[in-house]
Amino acid sequence: MREFIIAANWKMYKTFKECDEFVSLFLKKVEKKESRTLIIFPQTILLPQLAKKLSHSFIKWGAQNCYFEPKGAFTGETSPEVLADLGTSYVLVGHSERRQYFCEKDELLSKKVKTIQSFHMIPLLCVGESLQERESGKTNHVILSQLINGLKLADHSKPFALAYEPVWAIGTGKVATPEQAEEAHQILRNGLREIGPHTKADQISILYGGSVKPENAKELGKQKNIDGFLVGGASLEPDSFASIAAF
Ligand code: PGA
Repeated sequence: MREFIIAANWKMYKTFKECDEFVSLFLKKVEKKESRTLIIFPQTILLPQLAKKLSHSFIKWGAQNCYFEPKGAFTGETSPEVLADLGTSYVLVGHSERRQYFCEKDELLSKKVKTIQSFHMIPLLCVGESLQERESGKTNHVILSQLINGLKLADHSKPFALAYEPVWAIGTGKVATPEQAEEAHQILRNGLREIGPHTKADQISILYGGSVKPENAKELGKQKNIDGFLVGGASLEPDSFASIAAF
């Protein structure tokens, strides 16, 4: 059975106060279900406070980014060792905003995947095509190459997860149709069969992200190869994230 994961990507939103308010309200609205895992990815500076608030709950916390070295003279970076110390379960790798605004390339991402796994955290590698790439028929090529190169240094005996996030659907309100998403997820699943142990590919969760809302989560989540959601905008309000979590 693959883990069904519903994750909140808060990006660079929320103050300390807003973070606390969210958690207090959200915990009243969601119930524990063995069938799915809930994770919140806040900006790094909020993590210790969030971890404290969530420590007695069933909700996990993750980091949006980290460096690939555990320590050293890397001013401004976040250490994966310290994230692990904080009980962080997951770390996002290669979100399209990191690729676009911070020029992160597959080679770097692959090093991050390796280090995150070495600290017993789970890398959640994000892949996805731009509108131009989709319109010129390059979707399969782009997502497969991000998958293969991003996982080049991955240890296939340790857990990792993927998120398919078409760039044109992120924060735009334009969601991929369930068929478009399922097609991309199938391509990624087949890609996983090619690069790792064949049997392992069926155990890896592939999340969909890009304008997921309470109204579209159900149809998307019914697809065979969609194993959860990475939710941006709709994860900022306890009500809307709780109704996605109730899926
Ligand atoms: P969105 O963001 O749900 O606001 O489209 C998703 C993401 O960037 O992970």
